[in-house]
Amino acid sequence: MRKRRGLWGVLPLLGMAGVLSGCGKKGVSTLIPLGTVSRDQANLMLFSFLIMVAVVLVVGYLFVYAIVKFRQKKNDPDIIPEQIEGNIKLELAWTIIPIILLIILAFPTISKTFQDSQTAVAKGKNVVHIKVTGHQFWWQFEYPDQKITTAQDLVIPTGKKIVIDLTSKDVIHSFWVPALAGKQDANPNQTSHLWLNADKPGIYKGRCAELCGASHALMYFNVKAVSPSKFKQWVSQMQKGPVAPQTASAKEGQQIFKNNCLQCHAVGDQGGQVGPNLSNFADRENVAGYLSHTKANVKKWITNPSSVKPGALMPAFGQKLSAGQIQSLADYLFSLSVKNR
Ligand code: CUA
Repeated sequence: MRKRRGLWGVLPLLGMAGVLSGCGKKGVSTLIPLGTVSRDQANLMLFSFLIMVAVVLVVGYLFVYAIVKFRQKKNDPDIIPEQIEGNIKLELAWTIIPIILLIILAFPTISKTFQDSQTAVAKGKNVVHIKVTGHQFWWQFEYPDQKITTAQDLVIPTGKKIVIDLTSKDVIHSFWVPALAGKQDANPNQTSHLWLNADKPGIYKGRCAELCGASHALMYFNVKAVSPSKFKQWVSQMQKGPVAPQTASAKEGQQIFKNNCLQCHAVGDQGGQVGPNLSNFADRENVAGYLSHTKANVKKWITNPSSVKPGALMPAFGQKLSAGQIQSLADYLFSLSVKNR
């Protein structure tokens, strides 16, 4: 019986170890920092962790030492030992030592926080300024200096400071790119600031980190870091807009798009701002932020968005358009690329 209880005690620990082994995937983990901000944050985390380990070791040692040394041994007389009501020296010690530890922790934390909040409003040649807006359940990225807008995939150059003005269109979201920086709340009617950079080109996963509605857990985005020259090229391609559709089906899709979608979704310099800007839709990594980037998934989305993202605000076009029309729309959307400009 006792043995079995021991086993049950170990099982949750094993389970937790299993969960922990899921941490540390490159590009999605705070524990593998790939930018300046995240590296500083990880170092702070490690520093406070080491202090905590030291405290646990000292307290643990004293605890075990006391129960072993002062336990009632086999032939000890059955008496009540001297009862001590207080000890000024000891009490001062365990009050002052934690205060000192907190001060040691506070210095790097506060100075780093101030440094980062200054960089987060920096201007200049080495800075790329981006306005990020959270929506239920997607992200809009505006580049005011370059006069371009995109959504879901945030394209940034390596080696530059990416200075972000963060806000929300509806409820509170939280912008988080674990491998690069974060997290920061996106509040409606309010702008907050953060900055980040990426050491190397690559794709870094972003998440919304504030419970914001039915599809909070699906409010993913990507950060695509590219070399500065590639970034420059991308900006000029974005400014020119997507290539014109080539196939008959895509051309038909463009017409359907104009009649049904353009009032909410912008392509190039035309269209509404209600939904994500689709100018470079074909170049994106995911459909709806988390599905693989295929026409089948786009058709699924257009037919019934809530089946893909519960609570999505876009109406289901499966009621209004035929399967053939939705196919044409998908063909058009997959023609929206700026790569060959
Ligand atoms: Cu937006 Cu959670």
